[in-house]
Amino acid sequence: MGIGPPNMINDEEVSSLMVAINNRYGLDFTNYEQTSLKRGIVRLMMKHRMESSIELWSKVLRDKHFFDNAIDDLLVNLTELFRNPDVWIKLRDDILPKNSDSSRKIWHAGCSTGEEVYTMSFVLEESGLLAKTKITATDLSTSALNKAIKGEYSTLLMTQYLVPFLKFFPNKDLKDYFDYKDAYATVKSKFQFNMSFRKHNLVIDPMNEKFDIILCRNVMIYFDQKLKIRVLDLLFDSLNEEGLLIIGYYDIMPDHGKMLFDIYDVKTRMYKKKAMTG
Ligand SMILES: C[S@@+](CC[C@H](N)C(=O)[O-])C[C@H]1O[C@@H](n2cnc3c(N)ncnc32)[C@H](O)[C@@H]1O
Repeated sequence: MGIGPPNMINDEEVSSLMVAINNRYGLDFTNYEQTSLKRGIVRLMMKHRMESSIELWSKVLRDKHFFDNAIDDLLVNLTELFRNPDVWIKLRDDILPKNSDSSRKIWHAGCSTGEEVYTMSFVLEESGLLAKTKITATDLSTSALNKAIKGEYSTLLMTQYLVPFLKFFPNKDLKDYFDYKDAYATVKSKFQFNMSFRKHNLVIDPMNEKFDIILCRNVMIYFDQKLKIRVLDLLFDSLNEEGLLIIGYYDIMPDHGKMLFDIYDVKTRMYKKKAMTG
């Protein structure tokens, strides 16, 4: 029988590889959800035509450059412009006060390649709030962050983004927001305003700032319960009073989170920070 994906690596090998990565690079994936981690490892092995976990083991531990790039296969960077359009419609219609004078701070925790961040920028501009808002966007993956900073996407991807874009902006054109050249579309510079991208590991790094809105969408699905609790505590501490937390459609809020946040809108997975007494 050939080596098919299910046989490529077993649970013990996944765990010991993660312990070795933690020792070698100080990156702790031990509390990531095992199934998706295993899927990521299989993806990586197939991409590099590796047949045994030993081969992967020695490459990962000996070759830092290989490991830096491998992180993207281990983690899932999948994202989209205007992902779940109802979230952005709710933000525009209910949350963001049109043309308000007050300033606000927004954190995209796990921003991947930046589509979510630029979506926010377009929505803020539509509400007349872009100049008064400071956006911080973070991720663990350096290569995802580099793509995010460039704001450059293949025209093939752009065709996939058209449907959610038009759901939000039925009368607009992607060319109002992107400059097209050859096979790429780049976010117009006026939308790359007041934003900073930086590396931040939700597992270990502190966040020494407070925000009015935090988006942490489709990141915690890859974490086990213990890690979800740590991240929810961090997000709670990083929100201003009555701040808003937006999680992904497939994220499940653990009981611990229900003690920290009240549901604001079930459909769009928005939560308000609870006031803590005592
Ligand atoms: C599926 S993407 C979600 C992107 C975007 N938020 C969205 O919903 O479209 C998950 C992102 O979480 C990032 N991530 C995974 N573990 C992380 C960690 N410990 N700290 C920060 N980011 C992490 C991955 O690199 C990836 O870019």
